Amino acid sequence: MSIEQIKEVSRRRTFGIISHPDAGKTTLTEKLLLFGGAIKMAGAVKSRKTKKHATSDWMAMEQERGISVTSSVMKFLYKDYEINLLDTPGHQDFSEDTYRVLTAVDSALLVIDSAKGVETQTEKLMEVCRMRDTPIITFINKLDREGLDPLDILADIEEHLKIVCVPLTWPIGMGKSFQGTYNIYTGSLCIFSANEGKQAESLIITDLNSIKLDEAIGKDEAAALRDDLALLEGAGSVFDKEAYLQGKQTPVFFGSAVNNFGVQELLDTFVEIAPAPKNRMSTTREVLATETEFSAVAFKIQANMDPAHRDRIAFLRICSGKFTRGMKVKHHRMGKEITIANATIFMAQDRSGVEEAYAGDIIGVHNHGTIRIGDTFSEKEVLKFTGIPSFAPEYFRKVILKDPLKTKALAKGLEQLAEEGAVQLFRPLSNADYLLGAVGVLQFDVIISRLQNEYNVRALYDPVNFATARWISAEDKKTLEEFKKTAYYNLALDADDNLTYLAVSSWKLQDVQEQNPEIVFSKTREQD
Ligand code: G4P
Repeated sequence: MSIEQIKEVSRRRTFGIISHPDAGKTTLTEKLLLFGGAIKMAGAVKSRKTKKHATSDWMAMEQERGISVTSSVMKFLYKDYEINLLDTPGHQDFSEDTYRVLTAVDSALLVIDSAKGVETQTEKLMEVCRMRDTPIITFINKLDREGLDPLDILADIEEHLKIVCVPLTWPIGMGKSFQGTYNIYTGSLCIFSANEGKQAESLIITDLNSIKLDEAIGKDEAAALRDDLALLEGAGSVFDKEAYLQGKQTPVFFGSAVNNFGVQELLDTFVEIAPAPKNRMSTTREVLATETEFSAVAFKIQANMDPAHRDRIAFLRICSGKFTRGMKVKHHRMGKEITIANATIFMAQDRSGVEEAYAGDIIGVHNHGTIRIGDTFSEKEVLKFTGIPSFAPEYFRKVILKDPLKTKALAKGLEQLAEEGAVQLFRPLSNADYLLGAVGVLQFDVIISRLQNEYNVRALYDPVNFATARWISAEDKKTLEEFKKTAYYNLALDADDNLTYLAVSSWKLQDVQEQNPEIVFSKTREQD
């Protein structure tokens, strides 16, 4: 490894932003980009109001529904740091996509609405973060509105999200009487003003007993702040970077994204404490982010991002080494060498060709159906990164084609959408149906809408009587063959031709498992 490489890796921060819909994720994302100088105009809200696309919205459906269906990638610079921000879908029906995105980040930023506290999707998203012990920074948003008591919000987070909260800033008042925040660690007071300006006015008050505090925010508020801070001190949770990095403790910030308030403090702390690109496990060994040899893993595939070009892009997270334009890499699953001639890096508003990139960076590579989620690329060594599984679907539908002349287009559309991981595709052994499996039902609506918009195929669904699925295997071929005979009408092949057992109920599944102890039933599957 070279000094240059170590330097480049250490100044990178790759993180995902997560929240329950409407907590302010889009607004905060745009403010972060604004602070990073990546965009000139503020305004998720403005752009929504004027019906312009929000920077991270690629799909018409996202706008219609007001939820983020797909996730997007944005790079920006802040101070000396190169930041890769990955947006995630807030809706639980897309939790599989969220999981995959979170496999590509080193930390996460959780946005919570101060009036709502922990919401259902916040809990679901946290479950996903916890699977990987992702370090999390929390931003409690909308302090300019009446909300819950900050202490209650922290208690709520601790109880429902099972993570210790350590506030790094503390709010003074809320709603109409919101005065600003006090930074517990730097001893500075940020005075709130509802403006769109970049810098909030700040005042250093290291001695809390100083009269300067009373003068700045008023006697009663100063007294309340002193009480709150004494309470917090009594609670005894002190920021511990190690605990944060292990996902056991979350530093908490308060602010108002729409007013730019608290965003800069958040960003300053983020670049300081958030982890630089981490090492990654492969089937053979741990690959260090600072190794010289290039390696990367595909964690996301998106078709038709730009409808005008009908392109398919594979998103690769660089895990080690340096990427240079035109470099030749091995595509291990295919056993082929490919040249990455026109990789793309996603800046906030546009894509640009990438000359070089390092561990932590996300590059987009044009894909003609040869790249799948979980594929590993490296210069020489045969590697296979682990940690991007598919989850057994819980909802199933049979696809009914409206126009029989579109059979080919339907097959192509479904294959491509399955490749993206937007849905799971199953072909029963016993008939020619297309069965779709999903972790959340909204995925089905997305597929119908995308088939129509992107492949010009009108389709609808019939219900099917399946409730769960398991990938199956057996050490002994004969046993598997026997099982195939007895369970023929419940067996299907997934998009990668893996044998899958579809069960009508979890009770039935359990029964079949008990009857067939030599068959392995897997709830998740990693690509071979
Ligand atoms: P999301 O991506 O998490 O779904 O949330 P988004 O940023 O779209 O924000 C959801 C709503 O919350 C938006 O209002 C946005 O203006 C508002 N919001 C975001 N941050 C703040 C804040 O700090 N304070 C207040 N008061 N509101 C905030 P909207 O209903 O979509 O639009 P609008 O009609 O209110 O402008």
